[in-house]
Order: sequence, then C-alpha cells, then structure tokens
Amino acid sequence: MVQGTCCLALSPLAPKSDRMANPKHILLIIGGGIAAYKAAELIRLIRKSGMTVRCVLTESGAQFVTPMTLAALSGNEVHSTLWSLKDETEMGHIQLSREADLIVICPATANLLAKMAGGIADDLATTLLLATDTPVLAVPAMNVRMWQHAATQRNLSQLQADGIMVMPPDEGDMACGEFGPGRLPEPEAVLAKISSVLESTALTGTGLAQSELGPNPLDGQPAFAPDRHRPLRGKHVLVTAGPTHEPIDPVRYIANRSSGRQGFAIAAAAADAGAQVTLVAGPVHLPTPAGVMRIDVETAIEMEQAVHDALPADVAIMVAAVADWRTDSQAGQKIKKQGAAPAPLKLTENPDILAGLARHEQRPGLLIGFAAETEKIAEHAKAKLEKKSCDWIVANDVSGPVGESVMGGTDNSVHIVTRTGTEIWERLLKMEVARRLVAKISEELA
Ligand code: CTP
Repeated sequence: MVQGTCCLALSPLAPKSDRMANPKHILLIIGGGIAAYKAAELIRLIRKSGMTVRCVLTESGAQFVTPMTLAALSGNEVHSTLWSLKDETEMGHIQLSREADLIVICPATANLLAKMAGGIADDLATTLLLATDTPVLAVPAMNVRMWQHAATQRNLSQLQADGIMVMPPDEGDMACGEFGPGRLPEPEAVLAKISSVLESTALTGTGLAQSELGPNPLDGQPAFAPDRHRPLRGKHVLVTAGPTHEPIDPVRYIANRSSGRQGFAIAAAAADAGAQVTLVAGPVHLPTPAGVMRIDVETAIEMEQAVHDALPADVAIMVAAVADWRTDSQAGQKIKKQGAAPAPLKLTENPDILAGLARHEQRPGLLIGFAAETEKIAEHAKAKLEKKSCDWIVANDVSGPVGESVMGGTDNSVHIVTRTGTEIWERLLKMEVARRLVAKISEELA
C-alpha cells in the first residue's frame, strides 16, 4: 500500500547561487531501515559540497526519518507518493529523475533491491527507478543474514548486470546486535563515492571507465540531450592539465605533485557544456573525458608546442603545473654515483606557456591562468595576472601537509581574480570548481 501524500513545500527551488553555478543534482531515495538516520547527514554533506539534493522517502523509510527533517535539510520538498495531484502538476515523477545527474538509494533495503531486480514498480521510488536512464548508485544496509542470503546476493548480481552501481556495506556491530557486513558506510564515505561516480560520469559520459569504452575518446559519448542547455556550443576550449616531467637521465626526472584532476574536470565540464575541447595533458593516470581531444605530452617544451598547435581557441585555461626548470642537458645514460658528492644538476628555465600565449598573435579571447600559492593568495594572484597578461587567475591555496593539500587531493578552495574584482569559492569538490568556472566562462562569452 502506498502512503498518503507527503509533500512539504519549504522551498521549491535550490538556492539561487547554487542554480546559477549549474551544480550537480542528486535524487536521494531513502529506504526503510535504522540506517535511514544517516541520510540526514548525507544530505547536509551533499549540499555543503555544492550540489543540490531532492529526496524521495519510501513508506518504510518514513518510519525512521521524517519528511520534515529531510525537507529542512535539503531545502526542497520531499516526495513520497505516486498519487499526488499537486506533485504531478508541479513536477511529474518522471521529471524528478530527469533533472537528476545521479540517483542515490541510501539506505537501499533488501526489499527495495529485490523489487528493483524484479522490475517491480509499486510505489514512487520503484516506479522512478524503473522509468529512468539516469545512473543509479545503491548503498545497501541491512541485517547481516539478510545481506548474506542467497536471494539478496542473487538480486545484487542481477542489478549490477543491469548497470546499477552498488557501494558495498561496511562490516561491524549492527543495530540488531549481530556482527558482520550490512552496516551503512559513514556519510562521508558515501559522499566520496558519489563524487567519484559523478567524476567518472562526467569524464566518460556513462559512468564507465574509459578503458571499458574503447580506445577512441569520442567512443561512448552520449548524444547531447536536446533539452539541456549547451552554452559553449561552437566554442573551442583549450585546457592544459597535470605536471610536466623534465628528464634528468633515462630513469630520473624532475616533477611535482599535480594529479591533473582539476584540469581534467574542467575539460569534462567544458565538453558537457557543448564546447569542442582540446586537453593537453602532462603525464597523469586519468581517463580521457568524453568528447575531449586529448594530447599527451611529457615536458614543458612539448606542452608549449602542443598548445600552439591547438590554436586558434576561444578560451584557454592553463591548469597545468608546468615545471619551472628543466635540466640543461639530458644525460644519455643513467648517471652513476661518483664517490661522496652528488652529480651536479644544471638547470635552465622553461618557457612560460601562459605568458607566451598572451603575446601570441592568435591569443585566445579569454585567457585564464591558475596559480598555486601558499600565502597572500589574492595579492600574489593579482601580481600574476599583470605579469602574465591574462584575463583571469584562478588561485589555489596549496599550503598544508602532503596529502591534505590541494595538490593531488579531491577538493579545492579558490580565489577567482579578474580585472574587475575577486571572488572566493570555499572548499568545493574539484568537479564543482570546474562546473562553476565553466558557468562563469559561459556567462562571459554570452
Ligand atoms: N605556467 C606556464 N608555464 C610555466 C609556468 C607556469 O604556462 N612555465 C602557467 C601555469 O599553467 C599557471 C600559471 O602559469 O596557469 C601560474 O603557475 P604558477 O606555478 O603558480 O606560477 P609561476 O609562474 O611558476 O610562478 P611562481 O612559481 O613564481 O609562483
């Protein structure tokens, strides 16, 4: 039986600033189980990371967490029935899943998983799940014996074969007094999973690893949905990403800790916004974003050449952490230890690719540099804007111990310094920084 209408109209839309920045939308389905209380914290974390969230509460979920709590935390009305006339006139249930970038079922009960595996649609949650082609992430939580039961495991295999992503439960003491797998992972871990799924969805357009899509980066690119706005359609966006490696000898090189994630996320977001994207990538282990033309390089000299070869471009975003120096000359053989003193290393300055692009006769109309700073972020960024004659500088605070700093991490706090002022974007997932930056670029070019 379906529960009666339960829609709380607190705020029909996400905050204006969120909408303007074109954030990712999560549709969160909350099943019935003691772990449902963790959904409340998950909603808070999702919103804090810059995404929006709308909740669907199942009848049994409502036994553990109230619609009022979910509405207050999500800032959106909560949906729980198929049979709400008001919902259908304001936002049909099909639309609920269409506007989402990812559907997350948390907690996913054994009952919900069984219905999904069997294609049953007898309430709002299961009907949405049967009627959608949006990627779905299920986060199961249940009693250990239910988890281990052959029926549940069979259903999980079926769901995974159907393309549903499943985040396995944690092992530990359960609310029912038993021990074993079945506990809902902590909300922080679920958020990390959501962001990695979204990142791979943005990177490949399908949620599949690029390796599963074939060697051509354009393979698997989804057809652009006609109803989505593509503000950068017809524009060529050039992005550099990752570190450069400057060889010392055949086995050693000078490098830095850049992971390339921020640049790849920007390339993915620009492609998602309809741009033709050329990504000049230093040595990184990341899949090529869908619809992006990737050129792999190793050294700063190679990167500069690839950037010039890619011109003309409407926008260039120089995210790469280019090594400032290269060795004077590269040894042909491995340099051997010579007694106590280390072999001397003579260095030469690398060309400044960004500054060179600013002087180029085919200078892109919008030239954006990144800056890695450990102190006086805005001040140094402004100086860099002048020195490199670019239009904007996106400055990262890279202070902090290794592993906690922005370099190589998954999130980022940035200052956007333009010729008219400075904006500060507090700690956001790199993917959200990318989306906001692409939204800002689109506004600038509009
Ligand atoms: N950059 C570049 N070529 C270089 C060095 C940097 O194109 N040889 C670009 C980077 O891609 C980035 C911007 O310049 O967009 C700033 O990089 P950053 O490392 O912060 O600045 P540097 O010029 O190296 O200055 P410093 O290290 O002295 O702060």
